[in-house]
Amino acid sequence: EPPAAMAVPQAGDTTLTLLRRVGVADPESLDDYRAHGGYAALRRAFALGPAGVIREVTDSGLVGRGGAAFPTGRKWQATASQPDRPHHLVCNADESEPGTFKDRVIMEGDPYALVEAMTIAAYATGAHKGYLYLRGEYPRALHRMRYAIDRARARGLLGDDILGQGFAFDIEIRRGAGAYICGEETALFSSIEGYRGEPRSKPPFPVEKGLFGKPTVENNVETLVNVLPVLTMGAPAYAAIGTERSTGPKLFCVSGSVGRPGVYEVPFGATLGELLELADVRDGLRAVLLGGAAGGFVRADELDIPLTFEGTREAGTTLGSGVVMAFDDTVPLPRLLLRIAQFFRDESCGQCVPCRVGTVRQEEALTRIVERTGAGAAGDIALLREVGSAMRDASICGLGQTAWNAVESAIDRLGAYE
Ligand code: NAI
Ligand code: SF4
Repeated sequence: EPPAAMAVPQAGDTTLTLLRRVGVADPESLDDYRAHGGYAALRRAFALGPAGVIREVTDSGLVGRGGAAFPTGRKWQATASQPDRPHHLVCNADESEPGTFKDRVIMEGDPYALVEAMTIAAYATGAHKGYLYLRGEYPRALHRMRYAIDRARARGLLGDDILGQGFAFDIEIRRGAGAYICGEETALFSSIEGYRGEPRSKPPFPVEKGLFGKPTVENNVETLVNVLPVLTMGAPAYAAIGTERSTGPKLFCVSGSVGRPGVYEVPFGATLGELLELADVRDGLRAVLLGGAAGGFVRADELDIPLTFEGTREAGTTLGSGVVMAFDDTVPLPRLLLRIAQFFRDESCGQCVPCRVGTVRQEEALTRIVERTGAGAAGDIALLREVGSAMRDASICGLGQTAWNAVESAIDRLGAYE
């Protein structure tokens, strides 16, 4: 057995919403899941009907938790209204952003919640088949999800006639094989279809032409499990959590120079400093990387940034998938940036020139700066800016478009090479 996901420091806290069962209910027991409130949301969904569920999700203000914050209700409505059949549901569990491990905690600690949430999403959008695309490096999550799906099927909670309501739905697990790019939704579809994991241009968006060319709802694990409290507490109560434009609870993955790393649940609107206090941030904090390798650095004197989509945007950074990586003043920043650049060079699928060439040029320039082999950092920084803006403007997908974010923010906000 691999080690369990990083500890959940708040396990057992009764004020939690998303994590309330993690570390409390037996993740292998369907009865325990039900005893802790499981399947109340699906019953409400059947009572509301598909259009009623979409209305609740829209009114809740729920937006995608994979990183892009697209309104979930809009996505569901767009798929539900497509005349082309069949419709598909894909749960993106290929969580690979460096520093992100929240979906892993949900799948390992509360797997039936994801089964229930996928069933609701399928019911609302007219899908009868769901794919769970699971990161290959998550064997414990695979085991738990496989077991939960089998148990749910055996108890009539998946299959031809769920809860006697005449609704048919089942879930198939597909394992990723270690490619970061397969978390990009269209590359993920290619991977399921048996092709190389290369992104496709959007539009058309998956809601119209997705998996096997059919209308597809693709949602992140955390997004889906948020639908459970939306339905059990009702949209107005859910929307009252957090801020007006970032509603609900949010999972953050806190790691680095902290005493208690792990997944934390806080309502949107808590500040970065408050979250770091919960995680027992160490002395000598120099910088925090928000949003992972595709995100950006902020300084230790910017801890009053509110953790909301709008607050981070106003502060010129990003919330992304909820990565909060703390670095103290013992971390050699230029080497860290070089490591990030190597990651993007490794993971670029090579399909388009700006990203394929740009990520190599970026790594070369950062290597020269670290090894002091170039004509001087100033020239290489100018080159990095040029290459970075070409990648941002001309890459096909988010990987190339964000591959320079962290380096740029380290130069501009932290004065990385001064
Ligand atoms: P995106 O903005 O292109 O799309 C977000 C979602 O909204 C997609 O499902 C897309 O199909 C949908 N969408 C957008 N416009 C639409 C429209 N007009 N009609 C219907 N649907 C529409 O962003 P993308 O490339 O899917 O995701 C980028 C984010 O992913 C970044 O913020 C990054 O932080 C995050 N990310 C997360 C990782 C993780 O492990 N969780 C890994 C890598 C990146
Ligand atoms: Fe592939 Fe990079 Fe182009 Fe995305 S931006 S399609 S990862 S080469």
